Amino acid sequence: MKFFIATDHAGIAIKPNVIKILEDMGHEVVDLGPKDASRVDYPDFAHKLSLEVLKNKGSQGILICGTGIGMSLSANKHKGIRAALCHDAYTAIMAKAHNDANVLCFGERVVGLGVIESMIEGWCKTSFEGGRHAQRVAKIEID
Ligand code: RB5
Repeated sequence: MKFFIATDHAGIAIKPNVIKILEDMGHEVVDLGPKDASRVDYPDFAHKLSLEVLKNKGSQGILICGTGIGMSLSANKHKGIRAALCHDAYTAIMAKAHNDANVLCFGERVVGLGVIESMIEGWCKTSFEGGRHAQRVAKIEID
């Protein structure tokens, strides 16, 4: 699977570990920045990543900030992006199974590496269930 990843300054410290987790699982990872821990605005990176996920059919995104809240709020402004703020393996699994999420968001100041690994594992092994969930997901977007 192809993953795009982006953070802000509050999510950058954990990024190398997250990239390693994904690459060890055999995924391709494209790092969209930032390159260092200078202060940046999380919407800039959420928008950059969202556009790449929309452009690259079937790709997934990972957005990390302090809480994951700003990243998820920003990414969800894009039609076709379903960014899920997750806190554990259960929310990550359900975000894929029921919500067909394509961007996983979490907070570096909220979850530790063990939880992050379990979220990514759960996210990657889970597919959208479709069926009754498909009609609900279709109702998420409004014009
Ligand atoms: C940065 O201090 C922090 O506000 C940001 O990373 C994020 O948590 C916002 O939602």
